[in-house]
Amino acid sequence: MTQEDILKALSTVQEPDLKKDLVTLNMIQNIDIQGKKVSFTVVLTTPACPLKELIRQNCEKAIHELIAPDIQVFINMTASVTTLRDNTPLLPQVRNIVAIASGKGGVGKSTVTANLAMALAQSGAKVGIIDADIFGPSMPTMFNCESARPGLINQNNKQLLIPVEQYGIKILSIGFLAPPDDAVVWRGPMASSALRQFIGDTNWGELDYLLIDLPPGTSDIHLTLVQTVPVTGAVVVTTPQKVALADAQKGLAMFRQKQINVPILGVVENMAYFTPEELPDNKYYIFGKDGGKILANRNQVPFLGEIPLVQGIREAGDKGKPIVMQDQHPTAQAFKEVAEKLAQNIAIRNANISTALAI
Ligand SMILES: Nc1ncnc2c1ncn2[C@@H]1O[C@H](COP(=O)(O)OP(=O)(O)OP(=O)(O)O)[C@@H](O)[C@H]1O
Ligand SMILES: [Mg+2]
Repeated sequence: MTQEDILKALSTVQEPDLKKDLVTLNMIQNIDIQGKKVSFTVVLTTPACPLKELIRQNCEKAIHELIAPDIQVFINMTASVTTLRDNTPLLPQVRNIVAIASGKGGVGKSTVTANLAMALAQSGAKVGIIDADIFGPSMPTMFNCESARPGLINQNNKQLLIPVEQYGIKILSIGFLAPPDDAVVWRGPMASSALRQFIGDTNWGELDYLLIDLPPGTSDIHLTLVQTVPVTGAVVVTTPQKVALADAQKGLAMFRQKQINVPILGVVENMAYFTPEELPDNKYYIFGKDGGKILANRNQVPFLGEIPLVQGIREAGDKGKPIVMQDQHPTAQAFKEVAEKLAQNIAIRNANISTALAI
């Protein structure tokens, strides 16, 4: 068995999303052969890849079928998150920037941001959050770090902020700069300039995903932000009821305006149904059914999944430990699936656009 045999076998394995084989995509590395044992590394486009297991099984199968059935195969799955960013001066080491938006307030943007960030970080990605809600910052509470303060360093004669770090996630929020009761002082230009600092004058280091939790609505803050920050795309959160959907539609339309032109990475339907924790099979569609799915279909954008209305989600948010951290909680799985779908969609977009650019 030679290295060529292995590469030949693996060149029959497709990356299901990118529709090319693993060898052509340069995803196979470090092949090592010792007698009847082979080990190699598969470099995925995101550690949150939902097809990880399938790809692993297909690699083993190809080697057993095309070389010999008694070969012992050891596969190390790693990831190198892709990006479309060129070396623009803003946030240069951040591979993908995702704005989390909604039209209506209180539909769960911040809850979704916190849990998606946590799920992506748990998969092994480097993750940051900018809490851009200058009137009602939520991240300090949702990550139980209200008394934390960002650090400062001097780099090339410039003062840079160092984000607060909690559970492995880098976070900046207006809430770290002013006690909650003084928030009123921050309204207006000071808050906007702090926000600009989070983007332009912060040492974020290397990040795979930077999530931006936007305030509700479609205000000037949104426009300024998406025009200043080179966002990869936006996720729109909605609940299934009519009033929320109408506002979510406005949010979608805002991102799609010609002069804004931010791609929609998908819709998340939050509070899709109520389920009592002791009766998880009982679903009550108190806000209506499938509204988010219909919104996504109508706008021809991906549907990333539904999150139920569960008391534990609110409790976890108030406690400052996003529910994704409770591995055995059924809702943790729902958030993980949304995070995987999002990471998958970003990887597909990055691959398709870079191919198009190369052509
Ligand atoms: N799926 C859910 N199940 C139970 N409670 C939830 C769920 N999603 C959000 N909540 C709760 O609803 C409240 C509002 O959620 P959140 O703050 O995330 O919304 P938001 O869209 O960010 O609000 P705002 O527009 O004010 O920024 C919070 O108390 C949160 O814990
Ligand atoms: Mg919020």
